[in-house]
Amino acid sequence: MKAIRFHEYGDASVLRLEDIPPPVVAPDGVLVRVHAAGVNPIDWKVRAGMMRAVRHYDLPMIPGWDLAGIVEAAGPLARFRPGQAVFGRTDGARDGTYAELVAARSDELAIAPGSIDLADAASVPLAALTAWMALFDKLMLTAGQSVLIHAASGGVGSFAVQLARLAGARVIGTCSAANRDYVLGLGADQVIDHRSEDFAAILSGVDAVLDAVGGDVLARSYGVVRRGGALVSIADAVDEARGQALGIRVQRAALGVSGARCADLAALIDGGKLRTEVSARFALADAADAHRLSETGRVRGKILLTMQ
Ligand SMILES: NC(=O)c1ccc[n+]([C@@H]2O[C@H](COP(=O)([O-])OP(=O)(O)OC[C@H]3O[C@@H](n4cnc5c(N)ncnc54)[C@H](OP(=O)(O)O)[C@@H]3O)[C@@H](O)[C@H]2O)c1
Repeated sequence: MKAIRFHEYGDASVLRLEDIPPPVVAPDGVLVRVHAAGVNPIDWKVRAGMMRAVRHYDLPMIPGWDLAGIVEAAGPLARFRPGQAVFGRTDGARDGTYAELVAARSDELAIAPGSIDLADAASVPLAALTAWMALFDKLMLTAGQSVLIHAASGGVGSFAVQLARLAGARVIGTCSAANRDYVLGLGADQVIDHRSEDFAAILSGVDAVLDAVGGDVLARSYGVVRRGGALVSIADAVDEARGQALGIRVQRAALGVSGARCADLAALIDGGKLRTEVSARFALADAADAHRLSETGRVRGKILLTMQ
């Protein structure tokens, strides 16, 4: 099968299209013929060696942890059958999804939403699961609360705005002026341009912040949260002592895998309540260009690698 691998850490040029044997399927797993793999910033962070301190990776490795495709073969204990259309986010501890065939566990997958193109379903799992986990498992967001979502036009932010709005929250998003109408269209009540406006001077007393930028944006976010409120960063380390001094819960969110939640996301998509924005598509062989685009930090919604 064809797959993208890297044999050493480095810039996007280390990504190579190779012919390698297909993976072996576990008894409770399936072999998926991939229609598309989603591209996420974590893919190039791992490729660049930025995650080495956090986790050991065996090289060469296949990057990418989002997929959508058709089950080609199933182990005897698998919850899916050959021919079913599935999507999901695979465990980042092993080879990824930039490949024609991927071995996945049953608990990583769900039946793909039927109302959108199967390839587009690959743009959903990692970003939408992260948004869900951050908003509801970490921030404990409830109806009537206000939430500030940084990078509201990005992969995670686009889903977070919609999910927070669906939960009945008042949503404030940050992005550049070019993405203002897009973020309002996702359901944000207020949009702040991070280039020309200072969110920290405009906002105070918000119930929750979802930070997907880190650095100075995270540092300036503590001050806008009300006492008793919460702040989660998916992009940077948080300052627990500062949170304690201000009387706010602060947490760093970690990646999560859940086929069951992917099923919930598919139901929201098929119910017309959640949509995905795919702003760029690349052939598998052009994965390096997809990484270069993601590394600009300027992508609206998601990037896909399509297999056909
Ligand atoms: N810990 C986890 O579980 C987890 C999971 C997923 C992602 N992440 C991390 O979270 C971060 C975001 O991921 P993503 O997939 O959403 O990224 P992304 O799709 O690449 O985000 C791009 C978006 O960020 C916006 N942006 C850039 N700088 C900004 C700023 N200063 N203020 C507001 N918006 C800004 C851009 O909007 P404009 O072009 O309009 O400026 C663009 O639309 C990454 O660092 C990623 O690695 C962590």
